[in-house]
Amino acid sequence: MDERRRVTKLVLFLSILLNAAFRPCLSDPSDQACLTELSKSIQDPNKSLHNWNQQTFAKPCNESTSNLQGAICNNGRIYKLSLNNLSLRGTISPFLSNCTNLQTLDLSSNFLTGPIPPDLQSLVNLAVLNLSSNRLEGEIPPQLTLCAYLNVIDFHDNLLTGPIPQQLGLLVRLSAFDVSNNRLSGPIPLSLSNRSSPNLPKFNASSFEGNKDLYGFPLPPMRSKGLSILAIVGIGLGSGLASLILSFTGVCIWLKVTDRKVALEEGKISHLMPDY
Ligand SMILES: *[C@@H]1O[C@H](CO)[C@@H](O)[C@H](O)[C@H]1NC(C)=O
Ligand SMILES: *[C@@H]1O[C@H](CO)[C@@H](O)[C@H](O)[C@H]1NC(C)=O
Ligand SMILES: *[C@@H]1O[C@H](CO)[C@@H](O)[C@H](O)[C@H]1NC(C)=O
Ligand SMILES: *[C@@H]1O[C@H](CO)[C@@H](O)[C@H](O)[C@H]1NC(C)=O
Ligand SMILES: *[C@@H]1O[C@H](CO)[C@@H](O)[C@H](O)[C@H]1NC(C)=O
Ligand SMILES: *[C@@H]1O[C@H](CO)[C@@H](O)[C@H](O)[C@H]1NC(C)=O
Ligand SMILES: *[C@@H]1O[C@H](CO)[C@@H](O)[C@H](O)[C@H]1NC(C)=O
Repeated sequence: MDERRRVTKLVLFLSILLNAAFRPCLSDPSDQACLTELSKSIQDPNKSLHNWNQQTFAKPCNESTSNLQGAICNNGRIYKLSLNNLSLRGTISPFLSNCTNLQTLDLSSNFLTGPIPPDLQSLVNLAVLNLSSNRLEGEIPPQLTLCAYLNVIDFHDNLLTGPIPQQLGLLVRLSAFDVSNNRLSGPIPLSLSNRSSPNLPKFNASSFEGNKDLYGFPLPPMRSKGLSILAIVGIGLGSGLASLILSFTGVCIWLKVTDRKVALEEGKISHLMPDY
């Protein structure tokens, strides 16, 4: 009984050791799922993604080098995915969260649609998240706050709606934040624009501009839309009234002139008529 337990322990120990020793050469099931699902959710009409097939997904990493276009490995795991400016379409798979060693995710300058999956919260090593210049919709997931190492959040030039999550201000490593040119609304969290700690970078208006319904510091106060509408109505009414008055005077003058002519004519006629 005791002997058996010892053997089982030994086998377990050996298998863990072997697993650790050969890890860089073995496939990683999480990365495989991540890449398989990502390749299903995106379309690549320009055929830019070389080697993106099931065979490579099963073994994407060879030590630090990768056989996959746009991927960089570290310790046998996918470490960086840089798939920017490749005319990719489709959506961002929530299964990207299975690439748990991911440090950089750059999908910028494509034609990606759909939401930013909240599942990305499981990427606890993520430092760079650049999804700028796409057609992403929906809200910014507040769950991203769980990616505590985030340095860069760049979502500029998308179609994102809703508020900027206040919690993102808790990301103490954040050094770049850009949500300009979206359709975000509501107040700008002071946790980002006027951060409490003096060592944390404060994000200025360039991070927030180009969102019609976003307001508050550091954006300049809204040149009240109500006033400009009122101004337009005023100008419209004013010019309408002016043209009305102008045409009315015109008609009056014309009437007066013809009246005088008629009177003159009548006078002439009466003048020419012989007196009886
Ligand atoms: C891994 O990379 C090295 C050097 O780039 C290469 O010589 C080797 O054949 C590769 N191994 C596999 C299994 O792809
Ligand atoms: C994006 O790709 C196109 C086509 O390959 C190229 O002309 C353009 O310079 C690239 N833009 C950037 C910013 O790399
Ligand atoms: C993809 O193909 C389109 C149309 O052929 C072309 O306009 C565009 O520049 C290409 N993009 C890249 C990144 O090569
Ligand atoms: C892979 O990602 C999906 C979607 O986020 C999640 O449901 C699943 O639990 C993940 N699997 C693993 C092994 O992490
Ligand atoms: C994100 O990617 C875009 C285009 O690929 C680049 O211009 C921009 O500088 C990147 N953002 C950051 C914060 O590095
Ligand atoms: C920014 O924070 C400082 C110090 O807490 C405060 O004095 C200042 O009024 C704040 N500015 C805005 C626009 O809230
Ligand atoms: C705003 O911040 C960016 C860097 O985040 C900087 O390049 C730019 O000059 C700043 N703009 C102003 C008006 O301070």
